[in-house]
Parts: sequence; C-alpha cells; structure tokens
Amino acid sequence: MGNLLEIIKGRKSVRTFDGRQISEEHREKLLEYIKGITNPFGIPVEFLLRDAKECGLSSPVLSGEQLYVLGKVEKKPYADVAFGYAFEKLVLYAWSLGIGTVLIGGTMKREVFEEAAGVREGEMMPCVSPLGYPAAKKSLKETMMRKGISADSRKPFKELFFENEWNRPINPDRDMAEIFEMVQWAPSAVNKQPWRIIVIDGVYHFFEKKDKGYVNENTGDLQKIDVGIALCHFVLGLEEKGKTPEVILNNPGIAVPDDVEYVASVRI
Ligand SMILES: Cc1cc2nc3c(=O)[nH]c(=O)nc-3n(C[C@H](O)[C@H](O)[C@H](O)COP(=O)(O)O)c2cc1C
Repeated sequence: MGNLLEIIKGRKSVRTFDGRQISEEHREKLLEYIKGITNPFGIPVEFLLRDAKECGLSSPVLSGEQLYVLGKVEKKPYADVAFGYAFEKLVLYAWSLGIGTVLIGGTMKREVFEEAAGVREGEMMPCVSPLGYPAAKKSLKETMMRKGISADSRKPFKELFFENEWNRPINPDRDMAEIFEMVQWAPSAVNKQPWRIIVIDGVYHFFEKKDKGYVNENTGDLQKIDVGIALCHFVLGLEEKGKTPEVILNNPGIAVPDDVEYVASVRI
C-alpha cells in the first residue's frame, strides 16, 4: 500500500468529486482487495459497489460522485467495531490508489441505500461511502463543513493515550509515538475521536468515550465504528513495523467514568 503513516496523515474525507467514473483497472483492484478484507472479530462485513445514477443514490453533502460502496453486517455484538475496522482497510487502500472516500452514516436517505444494498432482517448497513477521484477544488459546502467540525485537527496525545489508569498520560517511545499518531489521525463521526487507550503491562486497552445520540438500530453504535477504525490504524501500524499484534477481549476492569466503555485490547 505504501508508507502507512503518510497514507493516514495524507488522507482526508472527500465530498467533492470530479465527475469521472472509476477506471476499469481501479474497479477491479478494489473488488480484488475487498475479497481479502478480514477483521479481528471474525464477523463478515460485506461490501457492495453500486452505481449512483442507476440506484438513485446521493447525499446532500456530496457532489460529482458516480459510485458508492455500501457496507453490510449481521447485527450482533461487535458488529459495529468489526464494520469500522474492515471499512477503514478499504478507505486506506482506496486512498493509496488516489480514490477519495468519506464514511456517511447520517447525511443520506438511508432507505434508498438500504434498498440498493438489499438489507435483510437481522442485518444492518451502518455507513456507505462514495468512491471517486477528488475534484481540484472543494465545494463551498465541504469547506464550511470541514471548518465546522475542525476536520483538520485532532486531540493531543495526552487526551487519548493513558498509562495504568484513566487520564494518566503516557510518554511513548519514538516507535510507539508514530503508531499513536496513526491512531490519533483516524477519522470519526463528527470528528469526535471517541477512542481512549490505556496501556497496562504492555497490553493496549481500547475504550469508547461515549457521546449521546450515536446509537440506533440502523447503525449500531457509530462511535464503536470509530473505535474499530482507530483499532485498525493501530494494528496495521504495528504490522508495518514487523510486529504481530493480537486483538483480544480482556477488560482490565479498572475504574473509568460512567460514559466510558471497554471495547477490546491489543497484545503485542
Ligand atoms: C462512522 C462515521 C460516520 C460518518 N458520517 C458522516 C456523515 O454522515 N456525513 C459526513 O459528511 N461525514 C461523515 N463522516 C466523516 C467525518 O466527518 C470525518 O471523518 C471527520 O470529520 C474527520 O475528517 P477527515 O476524515 O477528513 O479526517 C463520518 C465518519 C465516520 C467515521
């Protein structure tokens, strides 16, 4: 894919496309890549490519997009985390090909997309994304939107990465600081960055700092999708450095605020 930190820091959500169709070569590469996408939770996430015009798909925040990818998953515990993890792999791969994406979980007519994805009982389609080539200039709407949610900045390390207990900042070594940067720059719904990581005895425990209004029946918990994305950056970063991280469920049972929930851990 190329240098991961560069891809992660270079990636931005794209909402203004140049109107070109994805090339045949790129479509084949995407389809091939999709076949190999796995996640640590063993929950299959299905990706479907759908033509915007044919299926009547659009979003009020987008322009110029011709193609969408719709993601479906069976409703069950960890479906949202697995979904975020798997979708992010696709997002990063697309970016490495010069293809722009943006996860859309809210700003769309959900029924139209669900019909195009053929969502069945017991399944959900939490988010979709356009796939296309970024336009040379962003629409005014996109520029305003990015400003409104400070999309070009992220929380500092001291608010995200802790050692042994809640809210005790950690001083990472150089290698780990690079991995933390990859996690820091993960995209999230409304750029809330709800992931918090507490390191205890060399195990990295991922928590979700919950805000109100991100959970519903059609999407699961959008902020768990965010944590899945952050986890994906963490694992891919470690793998790039030649490590073999293992995602485990191992709640350390430490005291955390009421709005904080344990999600998963990584042993290196
Ligand atoms: C789970 C999820 C849902 C999102 N839903 C929307 C959405 O409905 N509409 C939208 O315009 N952007 C949506 N986004 C994109 C975020 O606003 C964006 O990732 C964030 O502001 C950071 O900007 P960046 O991706 O350019 O780094 C979503 C992102 C995630 C991860």
